Amino acid sequence: MTTTHLLLGQTLSYTSDPFHSPIVDSAEVRQNGGVLVKDGVIFGVSEGDTLRAAYPHAKVHDYGDALITAGFVDAHVHYPQTAIITSWGKRLIDWLNAYTFPEEMRFGDKGFADEVAGRYLDLTLAHGTTTVASFCTIHPESVDAFFEAALARGQRVFAGKTCMDRNAPDGLLDTAKSGYDDSKQLLEKWHGQERLSYAITPRFSPTSTPEQLDAMGSLWAEHPGCLMQTHLSEQTDEVAWVADLFPDARDYLDTYEQFGLIGPGGLYGHSIYLTERERTRLKEADASLIHCPTSNTFIGSGLFDMAGLMAEGQRIGLATDTGGGSSFSMLRTMAAAYEVGQLRGTPLHAAQIYWLATVGSARALRADDKIGNLAPGMEADIVVLDLSSTPAIAQRTARAENLWEALFPTIMMGDDRAIIDTWIGGQRYQAQT
Ligand code: GUN
Ligand code: ZN
Repeated sequence: MTTTHLLLGQTLSYTSDPFHSPIVDSAEVRQNGGVLVKDGVIFGVSEGDTLRAAYPHAKVHDYGDALITAGFVDAHVHYPQTAIITSWGKRLIDWLNAYTFPEEMRFGDKGFADEVAGRYLDLTLAHGTTTVASFCTIHPESVDAFFEAALARGQRVFAGKTCMDRNAPDGLLDTAKSGYDDSKQLLEKWHGQERLSYAITPRFSPTSTPEQLDAMGSLWAEHPGCLMQTHLSEQTDEVAWVADLFPDARDYLDTYEQFGLIGPGGLYGHSIYLTERERTRLKEADASLIHCPTSNTFIGSGLFDMAGLMAEGQRIGLATDTGGGSSFSMLRTMAAAYEVGQLRGTPLHAAQIYWLATVGSARALRADDKIGNLAPGMEADIVVLDLSSTPAIAQRTARAENLWEALFPTIMMGDDRAIIDTWIGGQRYQAQT
């Protein structure tokens, strides 16, 4: 018989999208709330006392005035870049060549890949992140390592073999055929096992020939239930390079569109320099744009148009983009999203930022029926936050008059010290040391 758990604390559940409905109507906050967890699933969210009386045999975890919410969902990461995070001073193409590709070369060694995959998931869990969508490397071993590590931790994750057949060093290239064959084999091996999902993963147009993009498009057409993740319009030099490499394409998105690489379940990391046509097509296709704010500032890419794209009704997720992004923390990522909004003159409300890191990213990954919110029937992936985790935060939170004001200092100044507990599938996570 599995244990029924009752988590007590302040609870936050979203009831609607705070970008498209009034903030006050978007969330249900309970100061003395409770979350009942049974068989890996959230069974009830209600007043703590009510649940305690109704389920006297539940194991109680009293978190006092800590905040209980859904775990963070990081919609675009590169776990193989864990050890080169915060590599200094370069912009995208030079950064890839100087730091990223040499590191990714090492992932043909399964033991090395295992070590980094485990370390990456432990680091992110310590930061409250329960689901990620990760690029692996061209090596099938890197995919096996990641899925095995996620399986051992019971996590819902999305990942795929990164495909590249040009413009990368020897040793880091596949071919159109081997990229297709290896991806298909990995997809058949892993997709749908426990909480694992395979994502078809052409890195970006500059590192794939038209033949490879075409093969990726075929694989996606054969498996439309899988996500497809890639990069789009991150830096101006990159956009110009794509125009040179694909002289017949109407724009960057067209280099994917021509080969069937656009549709629901398509995830487009960065998406900063979009033309009107691209915006229209992405919206029509109901594709997902992934905002990577610490990466966009760290690699010097630019400012994502959150307000404009949200107003158009685009589907948008939030992500660290480790290790182009400069942090493993979705709190730090939320802070950067706020700062980018400020630089564009469109500040985001705390309710909107936090929604992006939970429901929004889950929606972008088309998993919002399972994760990203504290609601009955959802999988019990949960984070418990101390809203006074440091003296600097505590003295500001003491002045707060409502939950959003109490949460905002943790969004802006918080880190892994704010994470009291992370729950995965109804189990309290303890680091595997
Ligand atoms: N574009 C293609 N590959 C990458 C990558 O690894 N990181 C980032 N930030 N952008 C990319
Ligand atoms: Zn990326």
